[in-house]
Amino acid sequence: MNQKDVERLFQAARAVRQNAYAPYSGFKVGAAVLSETGAVYAGANVEEAAYVCTHAEQGAISQMIASEGAHRIDAVMVVAGEAGDSMLVTPCGHCRQWLREHNDTPRNLIVYTAGPEGVRRSWTLEDLLPYSFGPQNLDKEA
Ligand code: THU
Ligand code: ZN
Repeated sequence: MNQKDVERLFQAARAVRQNAYAPYSGFKVGAAVLSETGAVYAGANVEEAAYVCTHAEQGAISQMIASEGAHRIDAVMVVAGEAGDSMLVTPCGHCRQWLREHNDTPRNLIVYTAGPEGVRRSWTLEDLLPYSFGPQNLDKEA
């Protein structure tokens, strides 16, 4: 992962976050994924009155699928919180599984968390979702 790709991911996730529709939680999240093709796809959380929401990471992954079909995801950036807080917002359990679906080697998928001021920390998906279940358990290609 080079620094330019990290910056591209951060800018895309920070920008899309402005469009998050989160009137119920007030918690806006922006996410961006880097596909193996080098393209970046962004998504924001979308809430509704019955509280069944789609998450920013799901939005970004859906954009990738709609644009280029399924491809391996090499990195994801999540932007949330306020400048100066120390919150580390990582993909929720369901979103970790969505990411896992698109990389059969979770230690190679880098998860970045950022505030509006910049990147705060990174992990591998293996760190966040060890011993994961995935397509290979069903004899499918990721
Ligand atoms: N949220 C995300 O967009 N991604 C996550 O993985 C964690 C939670 C959103 C969903 C909801 O709109 C708000 O954050 C509060 O849970
Ligand atoms: Zn989630």
